[in-house]
Amino acid sequence: MVFAGPPTGALTRMLAEFESLAMDNRETTTASVPQILQDRFGRHVTYLRMSVTDRCDFRCVYCMTESMRFLPRAQVLTLEELWQVAKAFTELGVTKIRLTGGEPLVRRNILWLLREIAVLPGLGELVITTNGSQLESMAQDLRTAGVKRVNISLDSLRRDRFRRLTRKGDLAQVLRGIEAALVAGFERVKLNSVILKDRNHDEVLDLVQFAVESGVDISFIEEMPLGLVDEHDRLVTYYSSDQIRQDLAQRFDLLPTTESTGGPARYYRIPGITTRVGFISPHSHNFCSSCNRVRLTAEGRLLLCLGQEHSRDLRRELRAYPGDEAHLKQCIGEAMAIKPQGHEFDLSEQSVLFRHMNMTGG
Ligand code: GTP
Ligand code: 5AD
Ligand code: SF4
Repeated sequence: MVFAGPPTGALTRMLAEFESLAMDNRETTTASVPQILQDRFGRHVTYLRMSVTDRCDFRCVYCMTESMRFLPRAQVLTLEELWQVAKAFTELGVTKIRLTGGEPLVRRNILWLLREIAVLPGLGELVITTNGSQLESMAQDLRTAGVKRVNISLDSLRRDRFRRLTRKGDLAQVLRGIEAALVAGFERVKLNSVILKDRNHDEVLDLVQFAVESGVDISFIEEMPLGLVDEHDRLVTYYSSDQIRQDLAQRFDLLPTTESTGGPARYYRIPGITTRVGFISPHSHNFCSSCNRVRLTAEGRLLLCLGQEHSRDLRRELRAYPGDEAHLKQCIGEAMAIKPQGHEFDLSEQSVLFRHMNMTGG
């Protein structure tokens, strides 16, 4: 049985019926279905990042080339398949799910998927990472659908520069999107800024000032060598988190905290201010030893590490064993055995992972 067609109440009922059938068959298949996800290094996987589309209305210079080819639709998981994977993971102890892309909000009927995932038992947080272009019209619906927090990419506050970095983005539209997210009342809004030397490193003070004035968090991200990009040499544009912290010290008193949002950021606080300033530093402060996450690419490949190719093709399993939840969970459990110890990013090497960031959503 293949789930196709528009997501409706009827579909949800069908899925429920199907699920109880699968439950009936469990005796024969659950012997090796795991209850929690743990890898060879004792790390528990509790966070799933799902790229719901590789498409995007921007072409950020660190993420894509200008002329990207996107996947044919048949290769992308359907919304129902995405839901089945999300359900299996929550039953295996995952408590946080983040939808990413590409740009997740350009996927048709994404609100249906969000609503269905939000009510999965055991899920603590449904969160989303977006470029903000669609937020002006969608923020309220996302909140109503059950999204708790939203992370919005923002690499520059200068209109022309924003356009050059995103190649297509309109800063004013994204700023209106951020405003809409604030009005919608998410538990937290965080800005993500990828900082590149001589392209936007001189804006870190302004970006923090903007975050403080808007009452949102901000994370600075070191660029990762995923997919070939054609506009800059990543070794030349590397700008470390430590350099950013030094720059910020000119105006802000940053105090380290032990706070975590379940992601890789190390947070600092500015006394008397709600904004947290995070640093995601895959090069300068490796965080792999505490990795709690895996990713699903837009085409249904379960990637065990952002910086490695170890993966399991869940699309093939979903389509070969439609509706077999126990089989799906077993495949996910088996995949834990190939989760690598960490990434081996090296900015000085020509060879990079072929996969662009839009396949995995970061
Ligand atoms: P919070 O839930 O707010 O902590 O978000 P997050 O940092 O987990 O997610 P977000 O989508 O905002 O990601 C921010 C950046 O962190 C992106 O550039 C991701 O690529 C990067 N990131 C997230 N997880 C990993 C990881 O396991 N390894 C590496 N190298 N980068 C990661
Ligand atoms: N390196 C680091 N961060 C990246 N992002 C996209 N491509 C890269 C890259 N090569 C960021 C986006 C978004 C987050 C999900 O990942 O800006 O904020
Ligand atoms: Fe699109 Fe995000 Fe990639 Fe920019 S970083 S091109 S917004 S997927």
